[in-house]
Amino acid sequence: MDSLLREEIFKQAIEWVMEAGNTIRDKMNNPLDIETKSNANDLVTKLDKETEQFFVAKIKGKYKDHFIHGEEGYGDNPTSLDGTIWIIDPIDGTMNFVHQKRNFAISVGIYHEGVGEIGLIYDVMANTLYHAKKGQGAYKDDVKLQPLPKKKNINEAIVGMNHFWLCENRLIDEQVMQSFVKDIRGTRTYGSAALEFAFTAEGIVDGYISMGLSPWDIAAGVIIVNEVGGSTTDIDGRPVNLLEKSAILTCNTAFQKDILKYLKKGRK
Ligand code: IPD
Ligand code: CA
Ligand code: CA
Ligand code: CA
Repeated sequence: MDSLLREEIFKQAIEWVMEAGNTIRDKMNNPLDIETKSNANDLVTKLDKETEQFFVAKIKGKYKDHFIHGEEGYGDNPTSLDGTIWIIDPIDGTMNFVHQKRNFAISVGIYHEGVGEIGLIYDVMANTLYHAKKGQGAYKDDVKLQPLPKKKNINEAIVGMNHFWLCENRLIDEQVMQSFVKDIRGTRTYGSAALEFAFTAEGIVDGYISMGLSPWDIAAGVIIVNEVGGSTTDIDGRPVNLLEKSAILTCNTAFQKDILKYLKKGRK
């Protein structure tokens, strides 16, 4: 993507993300109209939908040839990564949004011909924006994030993951995962994939594994983590597919081999 155009889109995307964040903060104490999707714990609110509709209207109004892939389905649901695509999660961490009213984010990843160009993750209640442009480093607001340390031992790692890894599950033997959590320093569960990617980039966790993430959960995070020298793959170490749901590992590359070793050992 042309660098002047990218700069223009970057500034515009930030403006829209901040505007969407303001609206969410303004309206979040009104009735949320909570509905469920695939199961009783899969929540969606009026504000998830309105926020995505806001982005779709803005993007289609200004960039007529761009495509949109958004969780709530108001975009184009593209089947390829051709052209310029905005991959949007209007509210990532809806359960946190509904129950805790914090720890949720707006996630926007912009790809051009399959290449991640711009990543924005806005922690709405903290009013903190994680952002990156390809090849330009990653930032938390105005502060440049440091490259992740190259040498660290797995027993010093803090990994973002939820308890389902330790229950019987379809992907990995739970006993292997129990030994994994004993071998590392600690685990954290934040309930927003986008924030867990941002925290991995910030180096306050060393990685994050999740059993089922969709393109909009990871699109921005992949770009931001990449800019600090981290890496994102599926749990078998293969490149991520931004058109499908998959089990994902993002981490400091210092731990990637070690974590993949556990995942391989327990893989069903
Ligand atoms: C969810 C959150 C959650 C993750 C789920 C996602 P949503 O996104 O990121 O942390 O465990 O897999 O679906 O539905 O709140 O946008
Ligand atoms: Ca959702
Ligand atoms: Ca999400
Ligand atoms: Ca969402």
